[in-house]
Amino acid sequence: MPGIAIVGLQWGDEGKGKITDYFAAGVDCVVRYQGGNNAGHTVVIKDKKYKFHLMPSGVLQGKKVVIGNGVVVDPEVLLNEIDMLKGNGLEIDLMVSDRANVIMPYHRMLDGAEENLLGNKKIGTTKRGIGPCYSDKIARHGIRMGDLLNEEELKEKLERVLPIKQKIMELYRLEKIDEKKLFETYLEYGRKLQKYIGDTIYYLNSIIDEKRVLFEGAQGTLLDIDYGTYPFVTSSNPVTGGICTGTGVPPKKIERVIGVAKAYTTRVGMGPMPTEERGKIGEYLAEKGGEIGTTTGRKRRCGWIDMVALKYACMINGVDEIALTKLDVLDGLEEVKICVAYEYEGKEIARFPSSLLTLEKCKPVYETMPGWDGARGKKKYEELPENAKKYVEYISDHLGVEISVVSTGAKREETIVL
Ligand code: IMP
Repeated sequence: MPGIAIVGLQWGDEGKGKITDYFAAGVDCVVRYQGGNNAGHTVVIKDKKYKFHLMPSGVLQGKKVVIGNGVVVDPEVLLNEIDMLKGNGLEIDLMVSDRANVIMPYHRMLDGAEENLLGNKKIGTTKRGIGPCYSDKIARHGIRMGDLLNEEELKEKLERVLPIKQKIMELYRLEKIDEKKLFETYLEYGRKLQKYIGDTIYYLNSIIDEKRVLFEGAQGTLLDIDYGTYPFVTSSNPVTGGICTGTGVPPKKIERVIGVAKAYTTRVGMGPMPTEERGKIGEYLAEKGGEIGTTTGRKRRCGWIDMVALKYACMINGVDEIALTKLDVLDGLEEVKICVAYEYEGKEIARFPSSLLTLEKCKPVYETMPGWDGARGKKKYEELPENAKKYVEYISDHLGVEISVVSTGAKREETIVL
């Protein structure tokens, strides 16, 4: 059966966790293909809030979950999440790719050190070691999950890479790596995780024609290393293209792409965001939307919905339908604004620029619509206030993409399926 993809269309935090949890009910297997524990999912089930970072959200539906080769795995975080979920009485049927790269303590330390050195030019990373781990993967200095299962292999890989790392640590005046302790700790992680580690590539290709598989993106299109606001991005490909490289499943096997977009825009960390509202509206959205990062507890920057960015994201991901989240957060506003173009040096542009300097100078061109109250908690489209429906329809028409899901609250049941 063809695969379904769920991807973020903005700067992450679109509410993919809730949407994935919703769709996971109808599939057999949920797969993560990129990112690591920089992600943060919050899913509310029966008033219980689950927060996790690395496990695919489908785990809450008791589905088979897979961490693909494109993910970077911090074994300590993975073990903690397994314990936390088991402690909540959940069954865990997990497979982790033996090719997934491992986040090492020096990755976390270097993430912090590089950010410090950048000072006010920093990216604002989650400091989870994501960037340095992906850098090592590309530089061919990575340790992979499969290496943790074999004493000889782990020893050989560490002997190869640690002299380089020690030099870098020295350069940054960071603590010297205790090589013996590192080896033993990671070997122990391997022992504990052994039963989960395997060849996910053969596994996924063996089930993709028979079973229903959902690919769950982390972060969002505008944080993509290639398509996002580089260098203020993450180090992986959250777009649908990342599914193939991050799992080994060929493109023809992905048939349905669901793009997730918030009814407004948020961003954590640095980098341009044309529709950012620094005044009252920004505060209103942040407060009402509970816009605090799940991973770092940082405040998210908030602003109006940005159709230039969304159109760009729909194009890159080949979005078939949109899940529009947090519509209820706009409840109670007298009017709402939709950014339909940018003004750059006196001209209107409809394309998302590649140059950050250009993007920084872009001023949003807004359409203003009357606001509404009472979208919160609605479960049927007909029950939505008229102006809220007009807002949803405007977005769909402008993007030329059907909106198939509207989320009106954090709970599983506060969802409208069109
Ligand atoms: P990194 O992924 O930790 O390297 O952080 C790079 C940028 O991506 C920073 O601006 C982070 O705030 C942002 N980022 C990483 N993961 C997420 C996420 O799951 N949601 C929103 N922003 C994220």
